[in-house]
Amino acid sequence: MSKITITTEFDVFNSIEELSTPIQNLMQQAITIRKSAYAPYSNFKVGTSILLENGKILVGSNQENAAYPSGLCAERVAIYQAGSLYPKTKIIAMAISASSEHNTINVPIPPCGSCRQSIAEYEIKQNYPIEIYFMGEIGSIYKSDSLKNLLPLLFDKKFL
Ligand code: THU
Repeated sequence: MSKITITTEFDVFNSIEELSTPIQNLMQQAITIRKSAYAPYSNFKVGTSILLENGKILVGSNQENAAYPSGLCAERVAIYQAGSLYPKTKIIAMAISASSEHNTINVPIPPCGSCRQSIAEYEIKQNYPIEIYFMGEIGSIYKSDSLKNLLPLLFDKKFL
């Protein structure tokens, strides 16, 4: 028997003001679009913004459905737009913000497993790491230098 140990690390920013100016702007756009979330069932709103290498920013918010699994997370709404509109343009960074009507979220909210898998597809496709910044409604922001920090042992095309 042997063991595999995988370590992962994140940068922690105490507030939005600690981020670089372009990333502050990216996070502000995630916060703004979060308010457009259609989340009547969970009352949990998520906003995502994506910075492309051409400087364009794409945004998305979670969209729920009475048939629950038909809804889609904010991260995938945003990244599928990037894949559709700019299939040849690198994704440089993503920012995510989440809030709830039940309580003030003061801890960073990471992307769910399905979103991690979706983001991984684009990181591998472009062969360039995607920076991921995520936060709640207030409080600190975690930064991952690459999707790989969030999804060790990921399943990708090399297994097919
Ligand atoms: N949600 C996201 O938009 N992103 C995530 O990574 C986690 C969850 C949404 C899905 C659903 O509309 C609500 O948050 C509660 O799960």
